[in-house]
Amino acid sequence: MKVLVSQPLPEPSSTDLLSAFVVVIGRPDAWPEEARRHLPDADALVPTPREKVTGELLALAPHLKVVANCAVGTDNVDLEACRRRGIVVTNTPGVLTEATADLTWLLILAVARRFREGDALIRSGAWDGWKPMEMMGASLDGKTLGVFGPGRIGSAVARRASSFGMRVVTCDAADGPEAFERLLAESDVLTIHAPLTPATRGRFGEDELARMKPGAILVNTARGPIVDEAALASALASGRLGGAGLDVYEKEPAVHPGLLPLPNVVLLPHLGSATRETRLAMARTACDEAARVLRGEEPRHRVV
Ligand code: GLV
Repeated sequence: MKVLVSQPLPEPSSTDLLSAFVVVIGRPDAWPEEARRHLPDADALVPTPREKVTGELLALAPHLKVVANCAVGTDNVDLEACRRRGIVVTNTPGVLTEATADLTWLLILAVARRFREGDALIRSGAWDGWKPMEMMGASLDGKTLGVFGPGRIGSAVARRASSFGMRVVTCDAADGPEAFERLLAESDVLTIHAPLTPATRGRFGEDELARMKPGAILVNTARGPIVDEAALASALASGRLGGAGLDVYEKEPAVHPGLLPLPNVVLLPHLGSATRETRLAMARTACDEAARVLRGEEPRHRVV
């Protein structure tokens, strides 16, 4: 049986867990061409968030039994097409929770304390010593952290808030308008952890950003299309919002050009789960799930 792994993963993962199968490992820049070449006789696919597994590609894969996504989010996979075809879809929950929560706090602190500007000042050689009003940021102690999507990662972010003296308000994507309005109105820092679904796509648009607290900080380590990036860029440029920390983008890997010159924005290249330990655990989980389904066993983290 043949497994297409869309791009090289931290090893050992495919080398041991998929050793009973023929494994083809693609190149990061060769999707969807490699999918078109290898899916016609593939029994399993191990993609990452970078690769869109569309209905059109799935239609080329008559033998495909499983899409074992190397990620917790599965918005890159056409779940409906998989459901119709009886293709199992799995993800990698749990193993990336703490790493992603840590990175969320890295962004919160970096934006609140103007990390980028401070680092740039030192490197410019222009710093001439301590000044009482230099580069003042925002204190977190006593402020309110709003968590949109208090699932595994959102809850881990909320847990860390007590160490910083922050009060927490949460709103699930499925909660009614009252909870959502409270989240917008009360959060000094609002952090997004909901999955990307039709209900969350564009949830933070111009109107919602306008209802956030003046000077609030928005952080997104979930999925870019939950936030309207153009609206965010103008809310930041006008000073309506105090800053933003982004790890994900609406049209990844593109970033809205309006965000790039803003000093109060910290931008990372989708690094939420990027520790050696976590990325290896994700790769091993995904390969194990593919192998389980190919052996006729029930996977551990079935989405479809
Ligand atoms: C990464 O973005 C993931 O969903 O695991």
